[in-house]
Amino acid sequence: MPDLTIQRLGHACGARVTGVDLSRPVSATDLEAIRQAWLENLVLVFPGQKLDPRSLVAFTRNFGELDDYATQPFNRHPEFNEVFVLTNKRTNGKPSPTYNSGQNWHTDLSYTLRPAKGTAVYCVEKPSVGGDTMFANMYLAYERLSPKMREFLDGLEAVHDASLIEGLDKRGPEVANEFRRLNPPVVHPAVRVHQESGRKALYVNVAHTVRFKDMREEESAALLGFLFQHQVRPELTCRFAWRVGSLAFWDNRCTQHNPVNDYHGYRRLMHRITLAGDVPR
Ligand SMILES: [Fe+2]
Repeated sequence: MPDLTIQRLGHACGARVTGVDLSRPVSATDLEAIRQAWLENLVLVFPGQKLDPRSLVAFTRNFGELDDYATQPFNRHPEFNEVFVLTNKRTNGKPSPTYNSGQNWHTDLSYTLRPAKGTAVYCVEKPSVGGDTMFANMYLAYERLSPKMREFLDGLEAVHDASLIEGLDKRGPEVANEFRRLNPPVVHPAVRVHQESGRKALYVNVAHTVRFKDMREEESAALLGFLFQHQVRPELTCRFAWRVGSLAFWDNRCTQHNPVNDYHGYRRLMHRITLAGDVPR
């Protein structure tokens, strides 16, 4: 196997990592290089891997404790509870509870008290074209605001609510009600400080953020509307075209992603693991 190589996918974020076989234990040197590349590029993609759920779990564990998905007891892998099955395939004639998940810019689980630190997604099956995922850099989104706006946002907290999730009710009343019960609205800082880099990142997203705390929805709407557009301007993003065998691994503390849902009628199956996160500060 050639040496570990890291090539950037874009200027805003993203890098492709080759020269490593993630189905086997990764050397300490390579793991450290991957960890550094992850912190610098925010999103890593590893094409051409062959990962079963066991090796996916083993690799992801190198980066921290895995999420137990207590807030979403749906669609787990039958043998590996840490593996969340994201698919639009029907089972026994019923749509999967995750058939319409994603579809909009967001950061994973921001509607929970300890949102996922990182997410690893492995592509098992996909349409021949489409179904790309876009990523945006929330450090840059924050840094490219005016000093006055940054100062204003530094003092704000925002309410995140799972009820906002588009199409939640289409997953059926049982799933939707249980989801709401397990995920009451939570408050996070509008700007969070990344625990490892110490940099500030904008932390509101169109899929989950309802309003600023201590402000009404109408008062929040204009500023949130501006931020939702500003934070995903094309120059802050990169776009990844999946292939079967690709693994993507991103840092939710400083990015957002948008799984582009352009593949209606085609099957897609991904295995997802999230890393347990901290309370945002
Ligand atoms: Fe997501």
